[in-house]
Amino acid sequence: MAPLTRLRADLPGNIPGPHAAEYYAQRSGPDGASVLLTEATPVCPEGHGYYRTPGLHTEAQAEAWKPVTEAVHEAGSQIFCQLWHVGRMSHSAVQPDGGAPVSSTNTPAPRHVVIGPDYKRVKCSNPRALETDEIPGVVEAYRRSCEFAELAGFDGVQIHGANGYLVEQFLRSGINDRTDAYGGSLENRMRFALEVTDAAILVLGADRVGFRVSPIYADVNEDRGEPDVMGTYGALADALAERNLHHLDVVESFVVGEREPGLDAICARLRLAFDGQGGQRRYVAGGGMTVEEAKAVYASGRCDAVMFGRLLIANPDLGRRIREGLPLTDPDESTFYGGGSEGYTDYPRYSGA
Ligand SMILES: Cc1cc2nc3c(=O)[nH]c(=O)nc-3n(C[C@H](O)[C@H](O)[C@H](O)COP(=O)(O)O)c2cc1C
Repeated sequence: MAPLTRLRADLPGNIPGPHAAEYYAQRSGPDGASVLLTEATPVCPEGHGYYRTPGLHTEAQAEAWKPVTEAVHEAGSQIFCQLWHVGRMSHSAVQPDGGAPVSSTNTPAPRHVVIGPDYKRVKCSNPRALETDEIPGVVEAYRRSCEFAELAGFDGVQIHGANGYLVEQFLRSGINDRTDAYGGSLENRMRFALEVTDAAILVLGADRVGFRVSPIYADVNEDRGEPDVMGTYGALADALAERNLHHLDVVESFVVGEREPGLDAICARLRLAFDGQGGQRRYVAGGGMTVEEAKAVYASGRCDAVMFGRLLIANPDLGRRIREGLPLTDPDESTFYGGGSEGYTDYPRYSGA
């Protein structure tokens, strides 16, 4: 199951909400997903950019995640927590003391976030580039969050290195305009991603740490920020593979049935690094796939697992439906973000003849 933000955490405290354990458990077990990713989960107060996202930076949050991990384990699946720092994809209204969001740069993200109970999209605030000597503190937040992950009973964590958030704001040459050890050369731009990964490995071991990338992210509102996708993501994948991580999760597309030009080439390159050998370094493919496409991709051997997002929102028993060729329920986009149990825990399991 792909990481899926649902904006239903309890306030104050950004605690996983009352229906979270039921929601994740419904999608676990032999009829659901074998491994689940949580919704993106900020590692520190500055890492929040959206209304009602659950965090993993306080003891209360770790305690509130416990029933979730227990319910998933009880059903027979594993659950990894997706660790998140939004960087400049945020707004002062959701920052501690109303401060500016932090980033690799002072340039604002040409994007929108949802910050209040009206669920309206507002323009991101102007960010403040992190001082060099502040960066170890951010890496430390990831490390501490991994300790909370252990306390909460997660099987592992996934570093969110995709979709325009802080890790990517350091990685991409079109966004990162720093002149210190975290900017300029490819080695420097990868430094933050690798320091965060190494901090997670230190706490959990490499076999419990995964990483998500979106090398080709077709967001029409934003320049992709990386002219050399192959060079940048190839080098990053090699460096992550050297560390023998649990998986590389590649967001291949957001649009069902559509693949961007150049996508197949970069996926093939990433597959060279994440070759699935030795029971580690799994390549997880996902994004915009129909069940038929997913079956073909898996059968072709170009990935070790397939990840589903929207189909699992609407079909908690997706595993069974795929296995038995049962009809699928369409997801209702209007209940993706915010609200209560509607569109969250009330999608039925297949009950037809
Ligand atoms: C409601 C919703 C929330 C999402 N939240 C996240 C998230 O928290 N972290 C993340 O990395 N991707 C997130 N994504 C992207 C999904 O993980 C996935 O890559 C995308 O939906 C494409 O896969 P699919 O076609 O199987 O849904 C989200 C997508 C949707 C539709």
